[in-house]
Amino acid sequence: MVKYIIDASHKKAIINKNIYGHFSEHLGRCIYEGIYVGEESDIPNVNGMRSDVVEALKAIKVPVLRWPGGCFADEYHWKDGIGPKEHRKKMINTHWGGVIEDNSFGTHEFMELCRQVGCEPYINGNLGSGTVQEMSEWVEYLTFNGLSPMSELRKSNGKEEAWHVKYFGVGNENWGCGGNMRPEYYADEYRRYQTYLRNYGDNQIYKIACGANGTDYNWTKVLMERAANYMDALTVHYYTVPGGFETKMPALEFDEEAYYHTLKEAAFMEELLKKHIQIMDQYDKDKRIALIVDEWGSWYQTEPGTNPGFLYQQNTMRDAMIAGVTLNIFNKHADRVRMANIAQMVNVLQAIILTEGASMILTPTYHVFDLYKVHQDATLLESFISQTEVGSDKDKVQDLYESASIDDEGNVYVTICNVDVHRSKMIEGTLLGYTACQVEGRILSERMDAYNTFYNSHAVKIEDVKCLNLEGDKFTVEVPPCSVIQLTFTGE
Ligand code: AHR
Repeated sequence: MVKYIIDASHKKAIINKNIYGHFSEHLGRCIYEGIYVGEESDIPNVNGMRSDVVEALKAIKVPVLRWPGGCFADEYHWKDGIGPKEHRKKMINTHWGGVIEDNSFGTHEFMELCRQVGCEPYINGNLGSGTVQEMSEWVEYLTFNGLSPMSELRKSNGKEEAWHVKYFGVGNENWGCGGNMRPEYYADEYRRYQTYLRNYGDNQIYKIACGANGTDYNWTKVLMERAANYMDALTVHYYTVPGGFETKMPALEFDEEAYYHTLKEAAFMEELLKKHIQIMDQYDKDKRIALIVDEWGSWYQTEPGTNPGFLYQQNTMRDAMIAGVTLNIFNKHADRVRMANIAQMVNVLQAIILTEGASMILTPTYHVFDLYKVHQDATLLESFISQTEVGSDKDKVQDLYESASIDDEGNVYVTICNVDVHRSKMIEGTLLGYTACQVEGRILSERMDAYNTFYNSHAVKIEDVKCLNLEGDKFTVEVPPCSVIQLTFTGE
């Protein structure tokens, strides 16, 4: 029996629902085909957005969506994507496959997508190749209701009322594709650009500074030292890339050694966050500034026969485990981590949805977001599970990752991942400070390399937990090998 303690009397931070956020870039078939098919398409759509995809996104309560990039953001000139579509500029998507970008999906379309999904927009501005004026005018175009050149332009494009936009990123990966800058230089540029992101009416811009490339802790230090007073949040990007970027591994064919290697890399998120947070704490003791992980997820070889620039990869139970472990880690750091955006929403990297023509499938990763949505805006509870190491001769990782929360109605939610591919874990839980009268569970459990296809779209799916008992303040549950489980306790 594995001991697990949840203390409902020890409430911690609110788990910001935006931890369950997503990212959609003009990359491969993410926006075009995956989300936007245009009003004239035979694929059922509302104002050009595929209805099947929008419905699936609503079902997992997507809270926030980042757009238009990624590397694309620092080459994107937003005025190319407004006005009559036939007059919009065509350009080359230099980063991603060199394909033609016809700008038919622009600001109005993105805001319409957010409206349909019911999520908040997170717009990433262009600092790398755009001007201060351009970024400033984008905010004016989006959010100003009075008389001004940009609000008039918006009105002439059919949108009378300004939108409400809170989250605004000032550049992306400016240490790399966003301009190859040094942190000192970016910090100064950030200070300059953010000055002109104005708050119009009651619209308050939440300013997000570009953060580090994974373990570049110096970037965080320099940004905090030089620009902390000018930001609401600082980002970090961390991908799980088994084998490294030079020798990426396949998404589908992998052995146990590769599985554990991958999970170890994913679980490194814990150490990564701790180190960045430690630095942030030195400059911001009250934790005013959020840490946002606005790109995370697995990155493998692209599927054979697909455009290498499109980053299309399949998604197995291994990816579900990455998502489950990572989201539990984010929950545990909810006092500082207030948004995260998995890369990317449809057809790119660790996608939650894959499409092929008119067909759509939900990946194992989608199901994890479905299981974990209960944590959105709930309060993190103190919890502890005893872990043991599992893995291969080369790579060891802890077997169990969990987090627990309580919502306003007094329901307690628990999510547990069993990373072990061979052994089931019998868990004996104790719920302190809470009288539970009922418990229900949902589970995702399959072979590590199981995945959904367009011919067998339910090979990996959520089922009810069978082996689950509650007696007084104790519960027992069996967590099978390679599985993600979610429990809901009702009581008081
Ligand atoms: O998500 C794919 C790419 O990864 C993004 O465009 C970039 O920001 C990162 O390097």
